[in-house]
Amino acid sequence: MTDALVLGIESTCDETGVALVRGCALLADRTATSMDEHSRYGGIIPEIASRAHLESFLPTLSCALDEAGVTLEQVDAIAVAAGPGLVGSLTVGICAAKTLASTLGRPLYGVNHVIGHLAVDTLAHGPLPEHFIGLVVSGGHSNLLEIRDIATDVRELGGTLDDAAGEAFDKVGRLLGLPYPGGPHVDRLAREGSREAVRFPRGLAAGKDKERHRHDFSFSGLKTAVARYVEGAEERGEQIDARDVCAGFSEAVNDSLTAKAVQAAIDSGAGVIVVGGGFSANSRLRELLAERAEAAGVRVRIPPLRFCTDNGAQIAAMGAALVRAGVAPSDWDFSPDSAMPLTQTSMVGGAPAR
Ligand code: KG4
Ligand code: ZN
Repeated sequence: MTDALVLGIESTCDETGVALVRGCALLADRTATSMDEHSRYGGIIPEIASRAHLESFLPTLSCALDEAGVTLEQVDAIAVAAGPGLVGSLTVGICAAKTLASTLGRPLYGVNHVIGHLAVDTLAHGPLPEHFIGLVVSGGHSNLLEIRDIATDVRELGGTLDDAAGEAFDKVGRLLGLPYPGGPHVDRLAREGSREAVRFPRGLAAGKDKERHRHDFSFSGLKTAVARYVEGAEERGEQIDARDVCAGFSEAVNDSLTAKAVQAAIDSGAGVIVVGGGFSANSRLRELLAERAEAAGVRVRIPPLRFCTDNGAQIAAMGAALVRAGVAPSDWDFSPDSAMPLTQTSMVGGAPAR
């Protein structure tokens, strides 16, 4: 039997993504973004994002179908991001998906966008390991998950107590006057700076906190330390080297993320880490994780850069995993869940399962 042809729709934030996937094969992946409209405000404006999804959805869908060389009638199942994300943005994608699914008479899956960041790796590296640690790092999440089946068995080991890694990068970017989103700019400057020039603190890395929060992260103290350092230099009339600040800051974030991910892979016995989310584009994360994992005998899978930031492929890949696992489609009346729990892979009924 051939694998189902799954249409995936992503509209959690500023990207409208539509993709077509069959099994582990990606047939098309199209994305429209409204980031240019948000940049000048220094953050995502939900109303602008929702409106942009409305305008972009049909053209993006039609480009994706053309690219895959298929018609809507050939689609076997539809997956749509049900959360976490912005309610207005999610609503546009969910309405579109419900309309298509009911018109075509196909099953509909409301899927977890964050778990999709890991599922997308199947499109690059094939089926996921039977037991692995998921490190999800994005603008809204920094979590360690223990996964035995991406469709049905996701356990949350820990997460950030305050800012997410991408969010902390974006805030430091703003502090240094870099364009929004600051993450990629801070990453670029960090590569040019010295990692030893300024040492910033690591959150939850010592004493009781380290034991109590073995799989958790905290980046807000670090962010404050960077702000103090920059303000202190300004007050003294000293010139700071933004490259060194970025390098020291990036090292502190990535030291925590990689040390704890490798530890979780060892503690759980899984021995494999799969990384996902926009922040997994970070060059130092990739480098340091590879180094530390190799030293500990842990394997690492990271999707290629184009799959890291939000896209329809992650939603289609998640839908394909649910279909493969025989998970029941979602009821028609599910609503967006801006805070969808990470242990919930899809919407099972009308109300979010809590
Ligand atoms: O997963 P994503 O596309 O959207 C969310 O679901 O949050 O992640 C976007 C986040 C932003 O905070 C962005 O600054 C960050 O990922 N990001 C990076 C890099 N590329 C994207 N942060 C650091 N280094 C990068 N190279
Ligand atoms: Zn995301």
